[in-house]
Amino acid sequence: MDTNYAQVFQHTGAVDKYEHVTYAPGSYASRINERQRAYLRALVRRAFPGRRPVQHDFACGTGRAIRSLHGLVRDAHGYDTSTDMLTKAASVGTRAHLHTVPADGPTPWPVTAPDGPALVTMFRLLLNVDDTVRDRALTFAARALPTPGSGLLVIENHGNARSLRHLRARHLRGQRWFAELSHDDIDRLLDRHGFEIVERRGFSMLTQGWYERRGLDRIARGVDSAASILPGTDRYAVNVVYVARRRLNRAA
Ligand SMILES: C[S@@+](CC[C@H](N)C(=O)[O-])C[C@H]1O[C@@H](n2cnc3c(N)ncnc32)[C@H](O)[C@@H]1O
Repeated sequence: MDTNYAQVFQHTGAVDKYEHVTYAPGSYASRINERQRAYLRALVRRAFPGRRPVQHDFACGTGRAIRSLHGLVRDAHGYDTSTDMLTKAASVGTRAHLHTVPADGPTPWPVTAPDGPALVTMFRLLLNVDDTVRDRALTFAARALPTPGSGLLVIENHGNARSLRHLRARHLRGQRWFAELSHDDIDRLLDRHGFEIVERRGFSMLTQGWYERRGLDRIARGVDSAASILPGTDRYAVNVVYVARRRLNRAA
């Protein structure tokens, strides 16, 4: 995958497109976002009953994952390579400390609180970057979550290799922004950094095309809403969220 992924979001045209086209009301991405938001809010309530966590959203972009958790976290930090994305995040009401970080070189450090749990979120990043960026992102997460009791890491894979989306791979493989990640790829990446998956949830069984065809969009919404609450569908879902924590006995 292209190593210049960070460059893609370095101008306001791309930022506006992301916020107002990709995430336009009713779009494929925003339907998934609605389901993820409900899931994330329930997860945080259930996983942090005593003390609200501090959120660290790596590659936060326009602040989607931070806004999803408004009111449920003690504090929030967003980190991104694009100041244009961070400016947009602030302008759409993201309540967080926003930090510009370099795309390469030493891994940025999370702004850690002296006590209390942390929640690291990482949405729509891992699929489209190379292994160096993936390892950097996970190094960041491991620093925010040094022990199993430190909190949770939540990551999104929006191109599961064992999903319907794979049918397009034969035609699109090698094209600039077509990538796939399998559950095993995610598992190995997390394992390398001393994390284990504790939960996995699918948020769309169908691909974007279904949502863009008149007459099919309502069926697609119904299928995906049902699938996102049925056990076992995560294996073949296009869009998957993984929840992980540090392992007790870890190599990394
Ligand atoms: C597709 S957007 C996702 C934004 C947000 N997480 C979301 O789900 O809406 C990808 C984001 O990753 C950021 N990014 C790209 N390379 C990065 C890197 N090496 N380190 C941190 N952020 C990076 C981009 O600037 C962009 O904001």
